[in-house]
Amino acid sequence: MTESYSTEAAHLEAILLVGGQGTRLRPLTLSTPKPLLPTAGVPFLAHQLARAHSFGVRRVVFATSYRASMFAEAFGDGSAFGLSLVYITEESPLGTGGAIRNAARALTSGPDAPILVLNGDILSGHDISEQVGLHVARRAAVTLHLTEVDDPSRFGCVPTGEDGRVTAFLEKTPNPVTNRINAGCYVFQRSVIDQIPEGQVVSVERETFPGLIESGELVLGYADRSYWLDVGTPAAFVQGSCDLVLGRLASPALPGPCGESLALPGSRVSPSAKIAGGTVIGPGAVVESDASVRGSVLYADCVVESGATVADSVVGVGAHIASGAVLRDVVIGDGAYVGPGNELLAGARVWPGVRLPPRAVRFSSDG
Ligand code: GDD
Ligand code: MG
Repeated sequence: MTESYSTEAAHLEAILLVGGQGTRLRPLTLSTPKPLLPTAGVPFLAHQLARAHSFGVRRVVFATSYRASMFAEAFGDGSAFGLSLVYITEESPLGTGGAIRNAARALTSGPDAPILVLNGDILSGHDISEQVGLHVARRAAVTLHLTEVDDPSRFGCVPTGEDGRVTAFLEKTPNPVTNRINAGCYVFQRSVIDQIPEGQVVSVERETFPGLIESGELVLGYADRSYWLDVGTPAAFVQGSCDLVLGRLASPALPGPCGESLALPGSRVSPSAKIAGGTVIGPGAVVESDASVRGSVLYADCVVESGATVADSVVGVGAHIASGAVLRDVVIGDGAYVGPGNELLAGARVWPGVRLPPRAVRFSSDG
């Protein structure tokens, strides 16, 4: 069984779920969908696409909704990745299950083929071939990649039996029964996708998986402990970018060799500035003398003036951080101006174009 899979694996098809609004990442996602945010120098999805290709995926159907046209503009026909890409757009968002069903119109595989389905906001180091191999060998209906997190209440909690069979799927439950969660990468039998009702809003987490388990279908868990991160919050997004730069997750899509930081072509960094912790300096961005930038993402054409401090933060396109300002764990929208003396902390977000005048008081989201 595993042997016959290896032939199929060379032509594996995938569906990529990228229709979410990325609400938790506002204001970054006001103009750009979460999966396209520059991450370690390239659009986030480039890392997922390159990894999928390295495991034998050759054709990917994008299930888009929010700002749909931007995906094709970013990735075109996919030839740069050795992939064939197809874009399917929902008129109104169909939910995760409805989106999978809708995108399946564009699949070419037959009913018995395994189809990979990926959430579009995940960095994962797991071995996709092993997951598909397990799915095929056990003749499962669906095989879910599972990982362990400290706070499972924010995810799909997935208890399993000893044989790996998933016994329940509890989406965002306040009382999780295990730390093992849905890691957002599935292998579906094509025929199982075709059973999802067409043209209606369906949640794969709240309807499809519980329904399959209820009806006795084999839903399997493929659990591992490799690198895993959902980049759905600003803190996680910054961490993901830094981890890629620091090599904590290998990505074939990195734009070049990185060390403690990645300075993209056209950026200018003063020799006396301190840049560390996996920071990315975007194209055209400027970091002046004695500024300190640690564990952060600086987007294109932004300026960090002399003596400013930026840590664990995102600075938007063309934003300006004045001399002596301090940013920790914040998001600065495109074109915003943070005047001298401002200290922004703990999850504060500055909307695009906003000007914070010079001052000496603190702003933070928790007051
Ligand atoms: N096309 C389309 N249409 N895509 C959608 C829609 C839709 O209506 N709704 C959500 N998506 C996409 C998002 O763009 C994202 O890539 C993926 O589906 C999951 O949505 P999120 O909004 O990121 O969900 P989550 O992070 O709260 O939870 C999901 O991921 C967790 C792992 O990170 C669930 O699958 C959880 O069970 C899981 O643990
Ligand atoms: Mg998510």
